[in-house]
Amino acid sequence: MAKARTLFLCSDCGGTSAKWEGRCPHCGAWNTLQETRESPAGSSGHRYAPLAASTPVRRLSDIEAREQARNPTGIEEFDRVLGGGLVAGAVVLIGGDPGIGKSTLLLQALASLSERGPVLYVTGEESSEQVALRAQRLGVSGDGVDLLAEIRLEQITQALVERRPGVAVIDSIQTLYSGELTAAPGSVSQVRECAAQLTRIAKQTGVTLILIGHVTKDGALAGPRVLEHIVDTVLYFEGDTHSSFRLVRAIKNRFGAVNELGVFAMTDRGLRGVSNPSALFLAGHSREVAGSCVMATQEGTRPLLVEVQALVDTAHVPNPRRLSVGLESSRLAMLLAVLHRHAGIATYDQDVFVNAVGGVRIMEPAADLAVALAILSSMRDRPLPAGLLAFGEIGLAGEIRPAPRGQERLREAAKLGFGLAVVPRANLPRQPIEGLRIQAVDRVEDVLGVLS
Ligand code: TYD
Ligand code: MG
Repeated sequence: MAKARTLFLCSDCGGTSAKWEGRCPHCGAWNTLQETRESPAGSSGHRYAPLAASTPVRRLSDIEAREQARNPTGIEEFDRVLGGGLVAGAVVLIGGDPGIGKSTLLLQALASLSERGPVLYVTGEESSEQVALRAQRLGVSGDGVDLLAEIRLEQITQALVERRPGVAVIDSIQTLYSGELTAAPGSVSQVRECAAQLTRIAKQTGVTLILIGHVTKDGALAGPRVLEHIVDTVLYFEGDTHSSFRLVRAIKNRFGAVNELGVFAMTDRGLRGVSNPSALFLAGHSREVAGSCVMATQEGTRPLLVEVQALVDTAHVPNPRRLSVGLESSRLAMLLAVLHRHAGIATYDQDVFVNAVGGVRIMEPAADLAVALAILSSMRDRPLPAGLLAFGEIGLAGEIRPAPRGQERLREAAKLGFGLAVVPRANLPRQPIEGLRIQAVDRVEDVLGVLS
């Protein structure tokens, strides 16, 4: 039998090299090569067996399309991000910072799912006693929840095949290791191999697998990006660990919409869903303050009002600081350039800080208008009119572009008592919205008028 060969795999580009090098010969990234083992041809048959049973070629129109049956977790906000519930044989990856509540949420979900079938919780990070203690704190009985404290992949797959639970949670994928590889647990090759093997088992046995993953310092899921390609659904836990609110966002979902958001509050008895979250991310100032503007963002199927804050202050260093929390920093630099070129607002000698309140992350460009207004308001030290809300994308030519689903955003704002909305002209609603005055803007220059 041919001997297995040791290879070095780049965690950035996936390129391989026969020997270890400090720099990947393919993409030039430093320190990304990790040891992995290539299986000799022939012996790998069982490991790379097809995921689905092979079938002959058929016409697409002859195949009966069936809606996948959903298994709701009973936690409404979690089901919302999953697209209605778990699907048999699906693999869900859930990532987030340490201590944000991944283990808590999944223990709650398993306890609820155990009422309708066998479930398995595999813990590689905590001891069985620690998990039991958490269950006690959460007030869940744990009667139907099977627990396995194990990090060896082969033992876990055996348990899955033998017990056939409806749903199994792996906490976490970075702690597992396969005896077939020499690399340490948490290394790229281990994580990739373990995820691939577990996915194969899930597809073959119909067990729904939920993998918990760690994130790196820059917020990406640790391990190679391929992990995100292997699984069916990728969820991220977001939120500020200092506040009690937690957001679960779907980044990829083969069985539902992406960008769907579940909102939770961490209480002393675990995570509670927040069913009407739109007013959560407003700071609620007792009087008007400069440098604050509320925007309506659309998260999946639900509009959400978020306060954007800006602080513009004289810089005392040659390179003024630009810092954004919860908003894209590259967009901030672009916005400042557009404000300068098209509206004559110069900030080259000013530090600019922007922040989305409550630890929420806004990635859509429709935040531009609110950020620009907050910056202007801070620069002039003049508060925006009370009850004002804004959304819209600002283009490099200084034009203000419409945001999708403007009507829903406006209706949500009116519902929460906002009286004035500054929106791109194309977002003007056809019928007036009760209680809401709407001001349309075409270009960045027009935005200056809002403050006077
Ligand atoms: P945990 O689920 O262990 O986080 P993760 O698995 O993502 O690392 O959550 C730990 C945090 O949640 C910890 O700081 C304590 C807090 N917590 C509560 O506030 N209430 C609770 O009922 C529980 C179980 C945890
Ligand atoms: Mg944990």
